[in-house]
Amino acid sequence: MSKTYQFANNFWWGAASSATQSEGAAFEDGKGLNIFDYWYQIEPDKFHNQVPATDASTFYKNYKSDIQLMKDINLNSFRTSISWARLIPGGRGEVNPKAVDFYNNVIDELIAQGIEPFFNLYHFDMPIEMQDIGGWENLEVVEAYVTYAKTCFELFGDRVKYWFTHNEPIVPVEAGYMYQFHYPNIVDFKRAIQVAYYSQLASSMAVAAYRELQLDGKIGIILNLTPSYPRDESNTTDVKAAHICDLFFNRSFLDPSVKGEFPEELMTILKEHDHLPVYTEEELAVIKNNTVDILGVNYYQPRRVKAREAAIAADEAFAPEWFFDNYEMPGRRMNPYRGWEIYPRGIYDIAKNVQENYGNIEWYISENGMGVEHEERFIGEDGIVQDDYRIEFIQEHLEWLHQAIEEGANCKGYHLWTFIDNWSWANAYKNRYGFYRLDLATQKRTIKKSGLWMKEVAKLNRFDG
Ligand code: BG6
Repeated sequence: MSKTYQFANNFWWGAASSATQSEGAAFEDGKGLNIFDYWYQIEPDKFHNQVPATDASTFYKNYKSDIQLMKDINLNSFRTSISWARLIPGGRGEVNPKAVDFYNNVIDELIAQGIEPFFNLYHFDMPIEMQDIGGWENLEVVEAYVTYAKTCFELFGDRVKYWFTHNEPIVPVEAGYMYQFHYPNIVDFKRAIQVAYYSQLASSMAVAAYRELQLDGKIGIILNLTPSYPRDESNTTDVKAAHICDLFFNRSFLDPSVKGEFPEELMTILKEHDHLPVYTEEELAVIKNNTVDILGVNYYQPRRVKAREAAIAADEAFAPEWFFDNYEMPGRRMNPYRGWEIYPRGIYDIAKNVQENYGNIEWYISENGMGVEHEERFIGEDGIVQDDYRIEFIQEHLEWLHQAIEEGANCKGYHLWTFIDNWSWANAYKNRYGFYRLDLATQKRTIKKSGLWMKEVAKLNRFDG
């Protein structure tokens, strides 16, 4: 029997992207280089098919017609970011007037079309000059970031009412300092912890700066909350492994952002292994006193873990992997076109966790989506990608989200990753996610079947499942 899933009239139906992933014009109008622009210059082979951020989908030039495309499918919110290196080339010093014009134009156009801007300040794209002096390991960079954040609030805070300090701050920690996925490709867990701590401090200081300006809006952080499930619920060592994984990869930012404190258990583990970051009591007070108003949640897939099996070798440096192994659960449902697990119920579990343990803070899905390699194979005779798999993916996640909302979860919106297929860090255009297909050669945008589906859902605030 079919059921109607009705959402609130003021629910945000949106899509998400980021500056570096959509703007293009990486070397134009005074923009400085960020770590990805730089990394491409020295190691182009690290990027899928050697495609650089310069080839992102030209939002810098086509923002007006792209915003019209959002309007065409009835989206009422758009989550993107400001490029630090575009607004303040080099990371500190003079503001780039052309960037101010650009972001003003984008904001004004969104508002004119009835689309709420959700703006994030930092999506992995550190200005290279800031990385050169140590990136998030250096307090000077934290201070430069806070000045940049304040500049954004002063320039755009009269119109942007939803602000986020970071997107997935754990990713630069893991990708840049633990697993060598992103520049600066370092493997050093002690340094990774300092990066995490100063990223959190930067976030809390930006929240403080926002509050001082007394603007009429809300500020939060976007976290990729990844439920970690144990192999066996009845096995205490597996359950402990999942718990520690959660401490390291979710609660390391969730707790200080929402509750103002790092989990005591995590600090104890770090202390025991001589891995506490350099910190001061004054900094901890800043974190304590500047918790967020709102939360963005990115959810793609869960993490499944089991108790670690191999003994720790004498020369094995301390790392989270001392406590658990990843677990490939037999029979788990996989996205056959991207290799990630599909587990829609995870969104419900996150919602319950936020409701029960984090004061039911207001939150939004700031990213959720299904990446597909070689999506051209699904283009139908009418030229439209027949992405029924994506409709099913979105719908199932929304069904679980709906259930959580019915049970009191304070989720106010859903943003698909992404609007138009966009460039993604080292993966470039390998995985397509958009409501609109991007033809790389011509830059032509063509709506997909999922875009047509969302057009109806956003219009009616409901769908039948
Ligand atoms: C998210 C990031 O974690 O994953 C996005 O916030 C990224 O920036 C998205 O594009 C998808 O990643 P990928 O590698 O599948 O393109």
